[in-house]
Amino acid sequence: MINVAVLGFGVVGSGVVELLTGTGSEYSKKADDLIQLKYILDVRDFSDSPFAPYFVKDFSVIEQDPEVDIVVETIGGAAIALDFTERAIKAGKSVVTSNKEVVATNGYRLLELARENHVTYLFEASVGGGIPILRPLNQCMAANRILEICGILNGTTNYIFTRMIEAGLTFEKALMEAQENGYAERDPSADIEGWDTCRKICILASIAYGWHVLPEQVSTIGITKVSLEDVAYAAACNRKIKLLGRAIHREDVTICAYVEPHLVSVQNPLAGVEDVFNAITVKGNATGDVMFYGRGAGKMPTASAVVADVIAIARQMERSAYRPWLPPREDGVVSADTLSSRWLVRLKSGSILNAETINPEQKIEGENGYLTEPMTRPELIKNLDGLEIISMIRVLD
Ligand code: HSE
Repeated sequence: MINVAVLGFGVVGSGVVELLTGTGSEYSKKADDLIQLKYILDVRDFSDSPFAPYFVKDFSVIEQDPEVDIVVETIGGAAIALDFTERAIKAGKSVVTSNKEVVATNGYRLLELARENHVTYLFEASVGGGIPILRPLNQCMAANRILEICGILNGTTNYIFTRMIEAGLTFEKALMEAQENGYAERDPSADIEGWDTCRKICILASIAYGWHVLPEQVSTIGITKVSLEDVAYAAACNRKIKLLGRAIHREDVTICAYVEPHLVSVQNPLAGVEDVFNAITVKGNATGDVMFYGRGAGKMPTASAVVADVIAIARQMERSAYRPWLPPREDGVVSADTLSSRWLVRLKSGSILNAETINPEQKIEGENGYLTEPMTRPELIKNLDGLEIISMIRVLD
């Protein structure tokens, strides 16, 4: 028998417990007979829960129990989760997590620590919720040079856009719904400011390129400044606004990685990704474009990815896990300012040379919208010198 301890009985942790034990009405099949739940760690009181006998409050009980083989970390946040992960690995236990923050900031170190301690560290659930993406990228696309990764990586922001556009909800109401559905982070700033997408593109890029890309190397713009007027201009040029994380491999072996809202053509499959769904396009030199699509957040989709990692370890399918990452490269990531794109620009007055004028179906008074020629952001800002800018959004071509 393989014994599992689950740290954190929140949205994802409780889903993991349901799958591991075969409880919960819709999930009555136990994920794997080889695996049994031994502990749940949570500081809160769950004495009325059907799982009450499993609860402990002191991590050292789990750390010191030689029967615990796998620790599932679904606490979230950075500090405590990192401490428990390191202690579990040093105690000879494999660790599975959905924690993007810990992986994006400490992945290289933790993979090294796991290798030194002859255990496994897996984090499929950290990117794309229930979408299988890390294992396919690491294994099935291993023969490729990855030319680009581009994805809608945050369910909350995508849900907010969909609900604002299709149901006419305010930003605040749409965010509240995302929180009620268990999609949003505890502090939703991580979703709407783009930090969650940033962490996920860091993990994807690190797996694809084999060295640790750090969040502070990735320029990040969230969705807080995107308005319904921007959406109307996007619609007028047959595009939708999506928050994208991108990592583009360059000839000089650096990568251009960044997070920004983009205008995406309605013909691009990413434009059809709505609600809490995520989608990731990976361009390999041999495969061309491969697309991964599914529920990017929520209790059971994320728990499914966590438990799949537990099963992989229990069945000894994954001894060496991901290929080792090399340490972060100080000069390895170049700024998004080097990337030339077309831009949607809204101006209070004045005009832009050689740009297409955009007219939303319902004219918005007191401003003009343009779709520019391809140029970098610094070139655009230079061209707009002296003009009153309302917004500028990059176009994905
Ligand atoms: N807050 C995250 C999202 C959860 O909305 O995508 C899944 O990582």
